[in-house]
Amino acid sequence: MADVAASTGREFPWRRRLQLWRAERAHRLGRDRFRPEDFAVFHLEVEIPGLGRAWDGCQLAHLTDTHLGQWLSPARLEGVVDLTNRLGADLIALTGDYLSYDLDGSARDLERSFGRLHAEDGVFAVLGNHDHWVGAERVRMLLERCGVRELRNDVVSLRRGSDVLHLAGIDDVMVHQDRFGQVLQRLPADGPALLLAHEPDFADTAARAGRFGLQLSGHSHGGQVVLPGFGPLVRGPHCWKYPLGRYQVGRMTLYTNRGLGSNMWWIRVNCPPEIALVRLRAPQKEA
Ligand SMILES: [Fe+2]
Repeated sequence: MADVAASTGREFPWRRRLQLWRAERAHRLGRDRFRPEDFAVFHLEVEIPGLGRAWDGCQLAHLTDTHLGQWLSPARLEGVVDLTNRLGADLIALTGDYLSYDLDGSARDLERSFGRLHAEDGVFAVLGNHDHWVGAERVRMLLERCGVRELRNDVVSLRRGSDVLHLAGIDDVMVHQDRFGQVLQRLPADGPALLLAHEPDFADTAARAGRFGLQLSGHSHGGQVVLPGFGPLVRGPHCWKYPLGRYQVGRMTLYTNRGLGSNMWWIRVNCPPEIALVRLRAPQKEA
């Protein structure tokens, strides 16, 4: 499968040069420092069908779209990791676009920061379109060295005593690496299940399967500019329908996280960089 990454890799030379120039300039001017007030922790509670007592109240920190090397500088990512670790979540889920257009200049910083993420039940990830464009195999190796387990069209079953929680991940939809049939094949027929998917609009497909209580996504950055009474000003491919926040899609909850970084447009209005802290709840009658 090594050539899959090569087949999805894309070169964006002028965007890469612009990114490196802006990051260097921001650093020189001291405008890339971490300030906790720039980031918001959004709390939400989601009832997961079939969730057993042992997992009731479990907390999952969801981080996405760091786009390290753009607005999110190495110093900011270090601060985000500290903030996340202090939340003391049981699980951490990462849903892609860790980089933008440059891997060489950011790989070491990403590894240093992600390597410090800590959660008792593990740190899990899927890749986004940008990770494929900069080089999926290298990003995969980097995540592995950090102790982050990538769910590449795969499923992991976590256990607390006799209670199980299935965590599934779909590889990136935008670059056609999603293999949902494989995910469903690997997912046991019973037990509560969550899905990590970079692109939120995949929720329509995921919900139709009728197996997931929650899908966590990013990709949209929440639109970055959110107009009161209107919503996100800009919507992109694969996040037209579900660009921001919480949705009910059939019987599945979808949460589209605003993300932590920005790509080409270093501007956010009414849409702060976000860490989501999700508390999983067992259904009342089953708890
Ligand atoms: Fe993306």
